[in-house]
Amino acid sequence: MRFYFAPLEGITRYIFRNAYEKYYGDIEKYFAPFISPTDNCFLTPKNIRELCPEHNQGINLVPQILTNNSVAFIGAAKELYDMGYRELNLNLGCPSGTACAKKKGAGFLTEWYEMERLFDDIYEWSGSNNVIISVKTRLGRFEPDEFYDILEIYNKYPISELIIHPRIEKDYYKGKPRMEFYDYAVEHSINPVVYNGNLFSADDIEKYDQNYVEEKKVSDIVMIGRGLLYNPELIKLFFNRDNDKKFDYIRFWDFHDEIYRNYQEIMSPDKNVLFHMKELWTYWKELYPESERAVRNILKTKSYGEYEAALRNLK
Ligand SMILES: Cc1cc2nc3c(=O)[nH]c(=O)nc-3n(C[C@H](O)[C@H](O)[C@H](O)COP(=O)(O)O)c2cc1C
Repeated sequence: MRFYFAPLEGITRYIFRNAYEKYYGDIEKYFAPFISPTDNCFLTPKNIRELCPEHNQGINLVPQILTNNSVAFIGAAKELYDMGYRELNLNLGCPSGTACAKKKGAGFLTEWYEMERLFDDIYEWSGSNNVIISVKTRLGRFEPDEFYDILEIYNKYPISELIIHPRIEKDYYKGKPRMEFYDYAVEHSINPVVYNGNLFSADDIEKYDQNYVEEKKVSDIVMIGRGLLYNPELIKLFFNRDNDKKFDYIRFWDFHDEIYRNYQEIMSPDKNVLFHMKELWTYWKELYPESERAVRNILKTKSYGEYEAALRNLK
């Protein structure tokens, strides 16, 4: 099996990606959290900081664009091209109210005519510039049945990879992925499909490997997001599933310290850094199932001093 790291807005930023690559790795491609270009500003200084090659050395990074507008997409794509990127991803899955109200992300999935116009333009540009564009999609906005028509649209374009998160907008990230629609895509997509959603354990990955890679001859690539936060060793665990190896807490703390230190270098004051660290702890708490209270205390801290004291209680 091979693995893509899913884009997680606010979390898988360059500081996190570099630390993950250093301590864990085994990631074929990291998908950057979306950027949202407009007609008159394609990349903000923050976007450039996140995506510039100097901050992403040794990482195979794919920038992701959230838009319904080909001028904005191509404008951003050209700037990314100048930074060296030859692969981009279009976000057609974001379920956030703000994006969907503007008919972006999953909110664009009902606008079939406009989708085709966007695809006409961006694939014409990418074809003549030697760039490939993958799409990360949900099944639809309101009903999963929308996917039948949406897939017909996708089949008209040279989508390098169709990454499917088999939920609809209102599912958000809850409930079980609707695998019957993923199965439909496996059967009917002309473009290569990549699965994404709820792979949380070595068993989950193994089942996918058996059911799809072995039996249905689907590509052996999956995209994982939250699973790699809940357990940064998930991939290693999958590869070594026959051994009874314990979680390496020393490595985890080195990973933690690197993220914490590097955020302190680029952000101030305490509040901003702690906001990011605490967001990570909402996932990392799974690594300390017996220490709920100690983790709750971490989430309440308001200064570096309090945070570090709370960590000592956990270590
Ligand atoms: C906090 C958070 C932020 C996310 N940000 C993005 C994003 O920027 N772009 C995107 O395509 N998906 C985004 N997603 C969706 C994930 O990439 C992924 O599709 C989803 O979490 C399901 O995969 P998983 O079950 O492996 O986590 C986000 C999800 C979460 C929970």
